[in-house]
Amino acid sequence: MASRKNTKKTSINIWSKLPKPYFILAPMDDVTDTVFRRIVGECAAPDIFFTEFVNVDGLQSPGRERLLNRLQFTSVEQPLIAQVWGKDPERYYQTAKELADGTFAEESSGLMDVNYAGIDINMGCPDKAVVKNGCCVALVNDRPLAQEIIQATKEGAAGRLPVSVKTRLGFNEVDYSWPEFLLGQDIAALTMHGRTRKQMSKVPADWSAIGKVRELRDRLNADTSIIGNGDVMSYQQGIELAAKHQLDGIMIGRGIFHDPYVFAKNSPWRETVALKRLELYRKHVQLFAETWGENGRNVRVLNKFCKVYINDFGGAKNLREQLMNAKNTTELSRLLEEAIDYTATQSKIA
Ligand SMILES: Cc1cc2nc3c(=O)[nH]c(=O)nc-3n(C[C@H](O)[C@H](O)[C@H](O)COP(=O)(O)O)c2cc1C
Repeated sequence: MASRKNTKKTSINIWSKLPKPYFILAPMDDVTDTVFRRIVGECAAPDIFFTEFVNVDGLQSPGRERLLNRLQFTSVEQPLIAQVWGKDPERYYQTAKELADGTFAEESSGLMDVNYAGIDINMGCPDKAVVKNGCCVALVNDRPLAQEIIQATKEGAAGRLPVSVKTRLGFNEVDYSWPEFLLGQDIAALTMHGRTRKQMSKVPADWSAIGKVRELRDRLNADTSIIGNGDVMSYQQGIELAAKHQLDGIMIGRGIFHDPYVFAKNSPWRETVALKRLELYRKHVQLFAETWGENGRNVRVLNKFCKVYINDFGGAKNLREQLMNAKNTTELSRLLEEAIDYTATQSKIA
């Protein structure tokens, strides 16, 4: 494919440039698409966003078109790291090249003057099918391939985008030879989710082990930022963990389901009244409909968010049941509109 001329020259290493500790919205499949990233950005933006993970083998196949929505973004969700996964180093190379030269920004989002800020390689997903195929966290046990993948991605990015890795503490048990190996690969950042593959999400994240990875980085004198991830529920908790373990950054995933303002220094969410919660969900649904249309992403994807907004007020449970059975965004919007009218009237009466 011909080299594009993306006018945004990105040779800055975002991981070393930002003031520390920086906060990152974790990549979450079917959650952190361009729509939800914009909602989070409006509530309280993190310092860095990630795309959902996208498969390089698929991107370099005839099915490419169908995967582009995972790379779609707007100039609001910035800086944005594209997260990739897969098996074939050659396809990592080609994907990194097309991320770096702006091909994917243009193809997925029609953007010529803004690009991704980096490329992250997923070496942490513990999904059974993925692991069976030798991808993601399975790479803990295939270091020659992990090395080839990192090198190929770096070659493709050609110094225009920093390359980072997100992973877990080990496969069946905590294994410091794994982060040590990764720190020897000259990557810009290493995000450590404080659990092993075996632990899935069943035990609390081990932050002292994440701290040990940071010590390892210091000892090896590696020029790699260390990001901690796992179970962080508030900005304040993130600040405390970053200070305690001397980390460069904190990544928050599921905490956003409890508080869309999780990146705010003082979140107003607990005091946010029903009407505002309903209006925020309406905005999310409208943006979803505008972005994906009725035939794009399945409306059921929105059910993951229903409990985020429709919670902690009288009648929330009943309303959630209705909303989660809506067949399309038109019906969902209508139900929300009715609930907003009713709540607004009630608050005038009160
Ligand atoms: C619904 C969901 C989807 C996820 N998708 C991804 C993904 O695409 N890429 C990735 O690296 N991690 C993914 N993760 C893992 C999160 O990024 C994060 O590492 C994990 O949830 C632990 O952080 P938390 O306790 O702050 O949620 C996903 C997690 C969840 C809950």
